[in-house]
Amino acid sequence: MTTFLEIRDLTMRFGGLMAVDHLSFTVEHGQIHGLIGPNGAGKTTTFNMISGFYKPTSGQVLLRGEDISGLKTHEVARRGVVRTFQHSTLFAELTVLENALVGTHMPFRPNIFAAIVGWDKEDRIGAEARAREALEFFGLDHLAGERAGDLSHGHQRALGMAVAYASHPDVVLLDEPFTGMNPEETRRMMGLMRNLRDSGITILLVEHDMQAIMGLCDTITCMSFGKFLAEGGPKEIRNHPAVIEAYLGGARHVA
Ligand SMILES: Nc1ncnc2c1ncn2[C@@H]1O[C@H](COP(=O)(O)OP(=O)(O)OP(=O)(O)O)[C@@H](O)[C@H]1O
Ligand SMILES: [Mg+2]
Repeated sequence: MTTFLEIRDLTMRFGGLMAVDHLSFTVEHGQIHGLIGPNGAGKTTTFNMISGFYKPTSGQVLLRGEDISGLKTHEVARRGVVRTFQHSTLFAELTVLENALVGTHMPFRPNIFAAIVGWDKEDRIGAEARAREALEFFGLDHLAGERAGDLSHGHQRALGMAVAYASHPDVVLLDEPFTGMNPEETRRMMGLMRNLRDSGITILLVEHDMQAIMGLCDTITCMSFGKFLAEGGPKEIRNHPAVIEAYLGGARHVA
């Protein structure tokens, strides 16, 4: 059987710095797969390579056996792999619904404003139905007409996921979705992620909130200084000497 998503020998060099250094791991379909490691370990850079924002220095990203490394972001999105950002990238001035509409258009055109203005009527109706479905999935339908910038932090994060969901993804890459959330928002977001997984979407999750990681992930890969360090279920990773050492060795986030 072909592996669903395989990161193979993935490497990103910035000048003299090996941000990601021959990293290999595989992600199974339908799982929540965590990618953890201390600050600067190379997690976001790995996401940038998987999602097409960076072209790897070397190595491959294989989706169902197809090498997608080096494709443009919208080409990667068209194959079902989309990401959200570590720092919010919502269009604050647009409404919640308009943001979700941008999501429906993500796989087709890199220019997002075409998503709002440049459609014929039929496309627009189909996209709007999908956008509304995404808002409903994330409990945001009652906020469709609000300006995105006016939403609470938790709702903005949920909208970020709704935007990704609106594009019909197979895989979503979530970079620190729990940052800045209060316990209630965290609890709700964990529920949304489980719903997302249970709907058949594979989730690759970068997060420093260890309770969320341990509570959600089926499998966890830990990296440090760009390199693969360890992999296993939550229990295994929580007790893994190399993981504990990596976090205690100078990182501000301690598991
Ligand atoms: N565009 C870039 N140019 C140069 N160096 C970069 C660039 N992006 C990241 N780096 C460096 O690459 C290393 C890995 O960074 P990355 O952002 O991937 O880490 P991270 O694991 O996501 O960290 P954090 O948990 O703090 O978000 C760091 O040393 C960082 O300073
Ligand atoms: Mg990061």
